[in-house]
Amino acid sequence: MALWGGRFSGESSALFKLFNDSLPVDYRLVEQDIQGSVAWAAALVKVGVLTQAEGQDLKAALDALLVEVAEDPQQIIASGAEDIHSFVEQALIDKVGDLGKKLHTGRSRNDQVATDLKLWCKAEGEGISERLTKVRSELIELAKREQQAVMPGYTHLQRAQPVTFAHWALAYVEMLERDISRLDDALSRLNTCPLGCGALAGTAYPIDRYELAASLGFAAPTLNSLDSVSDRDHVVELCSAASISLMHLSRMAEDLIFFNSGEAGFIELADDVTSGSSLMPQKKNPDALELIRGKAGRVYGSLVGILTTMKALPLAYNKDMQEDKEGLFDVMDTWSICLDMTALVLSGLKVKRDNTKAAAQQGYANATELADYLVAKGMPFRQAHHVVGEVVVKAIADGVAIEDMTLTTLQSFADVIEQDVYEILTIESCLNKRDVLGGTAPNQVAAALAAKVG
Ligand code: ARG
Repeated sequence: MALWGGRFSGESSALFKLFNDSLPVDYRLVEQDIQGSVAWAAALVKVGVLTQAEGQDLKAALDALLVEVAEDPQQIIASGAEDIHSFVEQALIDKVGDLGKKLHTGRSRNDQVATDLKLWCKAEGEGISERLTKVRSELIELAKREQQAVMPGYTHLQRAQPVTFAHWALAYVEMLERDISRLDDALSRLNTCPLGCGALAGTAYPIDRYELAASLGFAAPTLNSLDSVSDRDHVVELCSAASISLMHLSRMAEDLIFFNSGEAGFIELADDVTSGSSLMPQKKNPDALELIRGKAGRVYGSLVGILTTMKALPLAYNKDMQEDKEGLFDVMDTWSICLDMTALVLSGLKVKRDNTKAAAQQGYANATELADYLVAKGMPFRQAHHVVGEVVVKAIADGVAIEDMTLTTLQSFADVIEQDVYEILTIESCLNKRDVLGGTAPNQVAAALAAKVG
């Protein structure tokens, strides 16, 4: 029987029940629902609605239920209850009889579900935070391992200027750090307790909501009952933080997929994160990375989904909001597994340093150096840019690198060029010149790395 049967003489249609029930999704809130119920029972004792003994019996029954559902989670769905709140209440009544029917005094499923979901977000958020930190440390480890590796840096997917591989890895560390701070920020904002707000207008019992909030581990109670039961900003914010983080992970995945391609040949991915082809025996496919890239799309879908569900919803609670969980649960699960997968891929990744260095030497990645050299010799930069463009055209036509051209050939483009030009065309010189905060010069990268480790 539904919790709200009294007003009804007819039964729900099977289709309505299927459509309306949220248990198949919100069963995941069982721990939080029990935790919230324990706190609510204690609050009811404090205001004299329940006796001490009743409070103790309810707590004992709820604690026992928690153990039982942990041992046999199947029983939740099998109960056929409307939602997780109905399941917990019925299970309690089955245990302690009429006393179980007293627990919902002064409480509504509206403040209950809002509280459960925030408790869930807090717990889940901690797990994600640890995973983000793990990926960050894997990147730092990779940067340390491959500190000697040099590769071409790209713009427009064309070789642009040489960079160190560690510089590439540290770029993603910056992104991960922003992800961590975005998540922390969202978690600190959702750390307020809606319990005691009732259906929408506040509970009619003189509950100390500060004490109640503290007993559930929240920093404070929420301050407006209408807002409390209809606020889902935290769902939006977590989906948003996840989307931005998945955007970063998918960019890293894309870089690595390219580095792993036959055309680039910059890295070797470990066997345990790649798969073969059923037809082509030579293949070692970067499936893990492609899935991270692909899953980002589904996460964005959930962000747009919840924003669209919440748009123009009148105050206060509306059943539309039951649609908040499916997307959020999927987002947090996906974020979590993508972070685990990224950490695993990074831990086994090897850079093929000879290939990355050779690639950095090709593609005229040192053309900017020649232009800067001409500037140092007194030529205006715009003219130097033009002259080097002509040098590159000639080099491409001859199929050689700039540093392979003879001095006489180079001088035919600009007579200020002298023997010392060859020194500045080396990769080492290209790198060392970027000796500015945030630059790719090995000493800057080493300092950046030391700051991250420290
Ligand atoms: N299953 C509901 C949800 O997830 C719980 C709240 C129900 N409230 C109500 N007034 N019907 O939103």
